[in-house]
Amino acid sequence: MRIFLVPLFYYALVTDLIQASGLKWVRVNVPQYRSPGESAQLLCDYDLGNDTLYSIKWYKDHEEFYRFVPMARPQATSYKMEGVLVDMALSDRKKVVLRTVNLKTSGVFRCEVSAEAPSFSSAQSEARMEVVYLPKEDPIITGVELQYQIGDEINLNCTSGKSHPAPVLHWYINEQQVVSPEVLIYYPQVQHRHGLMSVTLGLRFSLSSRHFLGGSMKVKCVASVSPVLWKDGRDSVVQSLPVKDMREALLLVRSMGYKVETSPAVLLIITSALLLCARSN
Ligand SMILES: *[C@@H]1O[C@H](CO)[C@@H](O)[C@H](O)[C@H]1NC(C)=O
Ligand SMILES: *[C@@H]1O[C@H](CO)[C@@H](O)[C@H](O)[C@H]1NC(C)=O
Repeated sequence: MRIFLVPLFYYALVTDLIQASGLKWVRVNVPQYRSPGESAQLLCDYDLGNDTLYSIKWYKDHEEFYRFVPMARPQATSYKMEGVLVDMALSDRKKVVLRTVNLKTSGVFRCEVSAEAPSFSSAQSEARMEVVYLPKEDPIITGVELQYQIGDEINLNCTSGKSHPAPVLHWYINEQQVVSPEVLIYYPQVQHRHGLMSVTLGLRFSLSSRHFLGGSMKVKCVASVSPVLWKDGRDSVVQSLPVKDMREALLLVRSMGYKVETSPAVLLIITSALLLCARSN
């Protein structure tokens, strides 16, 4: 009995030691978003314990694009992939640098670390990077008449600049967001070159005196790009990016008389149509 028990105990102790001393963890650090033309540094951090590194492999959406194998010559290899241009001089066993990212670069980046014999253990970690093109132009309000009377129909369009992903437009009347569907007219997104998109949202309502606060009415259109609600396939976690870009166009309608409420037929003249631009990151 004794002779049988001792080797068993010994074996259990050794495997415990190997497990405790080998590859412990892998963690990637990938920028959540980048703009087209920027470079992106993807870090792969790991603790090999007592293991020796066999290989580092980087995947984008499950396809390998970079490999670092210390024993191989050359040690680093990159594979052609659309939207993925590896800067070989700046990439190594701990990081990959992507040059001039574009909209096709967006995706899930995974680093897989494998250890040498005898453990052959491997571990991986992944994160998503989104390439976001923010609009360079403010939204534009069109359809503005030179004058309106109470009871007239106001029929406006707001058209956003080009961005990726498509911006979301909202109309505001006197700082109140317009939500009622009967006054909003949705038009299909317009596709532009290089994956950029713009949108148009119509606003149609008939002008009444209650729209005038202190003799003026402020109509505003705000375009925001606050990407991207994505679902992580495995965890079903919905995350949003820390970027929120807002641009707006403002239309100020002033009444000529100052007693709009009591004289419903008063002539209204647009005295100024300002374009404001607000940006927040
Ligand atoms: C692992 O490394 C530590 C120190 O780095 C050493 O004390 C330990 O004996 C090693 N374990 C194995 C199983 O090689
Ligand atoms: C608003 O834009 C749509 C789509 O471009 C167009 O069909 C419509 O005539 C425009 N309306 C106004 C008031 O400009």
